[in-house]
Amino acid sequence: MFETLPLLPADPILGLSIAYAKDTNPLKVDLGVGVYKNDAGVTPIMAAVAAAEKVRIQQETSKAYTPPAGYPGANEACTKLVFGAGHPAVETNRVRTIQTPGGCGALRVAAELIQRAKRGASLWVSTPTWANHIPLLGSAGLTLKEYPYYDYETHSINFAAMLETLKQIPRGDLVLLHACCHNPSGADLSREQWNQIADLCEANGLIPFVDMAYQGFGEGLEEDTYGLRLLSSRLPEVIIAISFSKNFGLYRERAGALSFVFANEAQANAGNSQLLSVTRALYSMPPAHGAALIDIILHSDELTKVWSDELTLMRERIAGLRVNLVKSLNQLQTQRDFSFIANERGMFSFLGLSVEQVHKLKNDYSIYMTDTSRISVAGLTAEKLDYVSSAIVSVL
Ligand SMILES: Cc1ncc(COP(=O)(O)O)c(C=O)c1O
Repeated sequence: MFETLPLLPADPILGLSIAYAKDTNPLKVDLGVGVYKNDAGVTPIMAAVAAAEKVRIQQETSKAYTPPAGYPGANEACTKLVFGAGHPAVETNRVRTIQTPGGCGALRVAAELIQRAKRGASLWVSTPTWANHIPLLGSAGLTLKEYPYYDYETHSINFAAMLETLKQIPRGDLVLLHACCHNPSGADLSREQWNQIADLCEANGLIPFVDMAYQGFGEGLEEDTYGLRLLSSRLPEVIIAISFSKNFGLYRERAGALSFVFANEAQANAGNSQLLSVTRALYSMPPAHGAALIDIILHSDELTKVWSDELTLMRERIAGLRVNLVKSLNQLQTQRDFSFIANERGMFSFLGLSVEQVHKLKNDYSIYMTDTSRISVAGLTAEKLDYVSSAIVSVL
């Protein structure tokens, strides 16, 4: 039977990581994979996570199944982290949150629930968007359509074109928005732009589907939720897919959550029962370990502070690298202004290089990035920054 299946090419980003691992050049730099690294090039276990793991080992007395929605304590804490205290949608009991296997799990479960409510519903995604959005959401059966977002010429959001397209789309369609740290561009909506999107969704009956994979990596834990909190306070229905891979450094534990804002409490109860039936048919229940650690951290004032302080340092490290990269690139040449990199947020930026230039960086300098010239800024270190900027300038 399986002889009908052809060999697929390696995933472009995972393929880059494999090529990077094989490269023997001591100067090699991996700017491909979207994983936070510290200045020693290591993806650390956060101090609060390490402390919570000790607590967890002492507390865990059984490996029996967890409840299908995950730990109630973790769900309540995640809801508070995402919506803030006293959010009207939470206060009116219209929000339901479940734990999911990472942000990917949240996106997929949401797509499956949308399918149950409206088969083949149209979901509008930004051009470009995170590459995995397409198979994750599309293979659930949603009809994916695109709205313009990032302008490669101006290195910024083409907000007029975005709004123009969103104004044309039919009532009841869904719009996928990145809460912060847009992947792959790093170009984020301003508060004023979120306000306009909220107006439009309200006026035209559009349903926002917000993907938040980087809370705390943009401006701050509270600041990064501005758009989703606004939308959730003004609209009857909002979907929020959450990843804890980056902000808790829990990548391999597959920690994520999915929050739905429903129109009223009765619909929330019905929707939640459907959500649990979707997950039962997919994987029964979410992984326990990562969620348990988040539960412990967010229920301890002390560990919450340790965690958010470390997250602040991570955010500031990336912002500092952005500023230093721009300085270095703009000092070495004058033909291109790279200042836009410092205005962007989160892990990613498009350098604006051609595929040939990207390949030259890989082949001649062992600097790895995707063919689109998207770099993961956190892959830089202070030590390698000048090496990277001179190499970029040499291929311009
Ligand atoms: C925009 C976006 N959404 C969702 C995810 C999913 O994250 P997870 O690893 O938690 O599944 C990622 C991960 O890179 C992402 O960049």
